[in-house]
Amino acid sequence: MSRVRVVVTAGPTYEFLDPVRFLGNVSSGRMGFAIAEEAARKGHAVTLIAGPVHRLTPARVKRIDVVSAREMLAATRKAFRTADALFMTAAVADWRPVRKLKGKWRKGAVPGEVVSLDLVQNPDILATVAARKGERLVVGFALETADGVRRAREKMKRKGADYMVLNDASALNADRTSVTILGSDGSCRSIVDCTKKTIARNLVKLIPS
Ligand code: CTP
Repeated sequence: MSRVRVVVTAGPTYEFLDPVRFLGNVSSGRMGFAIAEEAARKGHAVTLIAGPVHRLTPARVKRIDVVSAREMLAATRKAFRTADALFMTAAVADWRPVRKLKGKWRKGAVPGEVVSLDLVQNPDILATVAARKGERLVVGFALETADGVRRAREKMKRKGADYMVLNDASALNADRTSVTILGSDGSCRSIVDCTKKTIARNLVKLIPS
């Protein structure tokens, strides 16, 4: 029997505005790496698409490193073409600078000068990939600071995911966290104060065998 093929995205994306500066976020990639590790342990064929994070690649996982949201979109599209399931844990930057300067952005001579940066919205990787998912499993993740269940359900519907895993902000860079797994079938299950490894083990159970 052929192995189930699983794609996991993890970590932040960096959006460079000049050769040395970028817009990014504090995502550690821990949840995505834990899911990749658990899925590989289960015997699935795992491709891990990682933004810029310093983490060891779990055993028997194929890792593809990317930097920007657009690179992550291209890698995810390609990997998902032949995959059975996607876990979209990456904290994708919503915006990128309209232009990347060739040289460093130099400050002007005027002290206290106010400057502005033009940003353009990045593509939504989850929504793009889920639009052609068919019967395949797509799991999104949402970090909300208020009105979480309603917002996460709305995101799940808008982006076309089968499940949305709702985190609160305490999840960022932490090893223990609580999540609520919302299903497009109306299901709702909370896993409270567990390690990301335990949460990953539960999420991997969503993969049909
Ligand atoms: N996501 C994505 N591409 C983006 C932004 C988000 O694929 N450009 C995915 C994330 O990986 C996650 C899900 O969408 O699985 C929800 O991410 P979130 O940042 O909460 O969604 P946003 O649409 O950016 O909503 P908000 O405006 O609340 O930040």
